Amino acid sequence: MTSDARPAPTAPELLASLTDSVRDRMPQTIAELSQLVRIPSVSWDGFDPAHVRASAEATAELLRGLKVFDRVDIVQAPVAAGSDTLGQPAVLARREPRAGRPTVLLYAHHDVQPPGDETLWDSPAFEPTVRGDRLYGRGAADDKAGVIAHVAAIRTLVETVGDPDVGIVVFIEGEEEFGSRSFRALLDAHRDTLAADVIVVADSDNWTIDTPSLTVGLRGNAAFTLTISTLAHASHSGMLGGAAPDAMMAAVRLLASLHNDDGSVAVEGMRAHEQEVPDDDEERFRHEAGLLPGVTPIGRGRILSRLWAQPAITVTGIDAPSVQNASNTLLPSVSVKISARVAPGQSAAEAFEALRAHLEAHAPFGAHLEFGHVDLGNPFLVDTSGWGADEARQAMRDAWGAEPQLTGVGGSIPFIADLAEAFPDAHVLVTGVEDPDTRAHSPNESLHLGVLRRAILTEAVLLARLNNRSQ
Ligand code: BES
Ligand code: MN
Ligand code: MN
Repeated sequence: MTSDARPAPTAPELLASLTDSVRDRMPQTIAELSQLVRIPSVSWDGFDPAHVRASAEATAELLRGLKVFDRVDIVQAPVAAGSDTLGQPAVLARREPRAGRPTVLLYAHHDVQPPGDETLWDSPAFEPTVRGDRLYGRGAADDKAGVIAHVAAIRTLVETVGDPDVGIVVFIEGEEEFGSRSFRALLDAHRDTLAADVIVVADSDNWTIDTPSLTVGLRGNAAFTLTISTLAHASHSGMLGGAAPDAMMAAVRLLASLHNDDGSVAVEGMRAHEQEVPDDDEERFRHEAGLLPGVTPIGRGRILSRLWAQPAITVTGIDAPSVQNASNTLLPSVSVKISARVAPGQSAAEAFEALRAHLEAHAPFGAHLEFGHVDLGNPFLVDTSGWGADEARQAMRDAWGAEPQLTGVGGSIPFIADLAEAFPDAHVLVTGVEDPDTRAHSPNESLHLGVLRRAILTEAVLLARLNNRSQ
């Protein structure tokens, strides 16, 4: 089937049964999600890995409870070839297909970002709390709701159609928020278990709470630390300031060179992607980003082209004395964390080399630069021409009663490019449970419970359709 021939809508009786099952199970689904949110599974270095292990175990238990899998295992792999360090635990489950049906791989991640400043949360980050239509908590959306969407969709499938023929693989990663360091090794070690015809990634967002998105483009990322040094030691800023260049001044000038006056990226060799995007809706953008009155957007071209199809460079951290500890001193060195986004169509390695070359060429006053902790992830463009995307769009129409919007996202899910490379014939479908008010990674992250229900129903419909589809 090609994309201009729309697949038939799901049979009304089947759709009604799936809809009822998802609705009836929502209290259980929200309770299971809340149980996962209570586990502070931050995958970063410096956070207790026991919590990530506990959330892997809780996830594995939920999958075992479905009683459909031939195997449910917690798996770990080295973070680099030959390394003794293992990545965070992932959960891998598989059920073989029958009767010539396809196999679908369902992906989400059970690790979360750190809570950040706890005083900015209206309810504690790891105490799931319902207010209005939303469930608040770190990971309530990104991406424990993705985990639960898979669990709930499989439960509804089994409750509605009985023992399924469709093959089902569930892969729940434990370190997506830390750069998926062991993903390639996991892929090598479990290639046969992961193999699938359709890959559903539940880790993206939706156009509105009433209109689903099928994500068709994601930016890549290039993150690294940069230390800028100008002096062998600190000195009194009155005695030597004005002639000796301090590292803060060098850093500020160097970082300022990364952007043009309008805020667009000024690094030669970091490319944009030609991509059609919807018209500007500046009010929507101002609301979503929380722009203060009088603050203007940065960049060039349509706003969604800036977010989806152009590079971005953000300084996300700086190591320097705090304001309270600031003495009259010339700083000898300053470290920053730089997080760049790579437009679809360019490799993360190429974009990083362009950025490194720019920084080296612009280091002021002969400042010394040291790069560290380089983390690269490639962007991804989804091929929407196959039957997989047609099936996903029909499932969204059936479940939401609305035409899905094909969107890009500015965020990154770097493992998708690796997975698609390993399984080039698989149909990759990027869906999710987030919405414009989710505030993933920020204080007061939340999930819209209506979106969760519609996302589960979409996936249950898709599974039911694949369960009836011959290859
Ligand atoms: N779920 C996000 C990716 C995303 C963000 C999809 C916004 C759709 C809309 C994912 O968990 C994420 O945060 N990825 C990181 C990757 C990084 C740690 C390599 C990101 O984009 O910063
Ligand atoms: Mn995520
Ligand atoms: Mn995230």
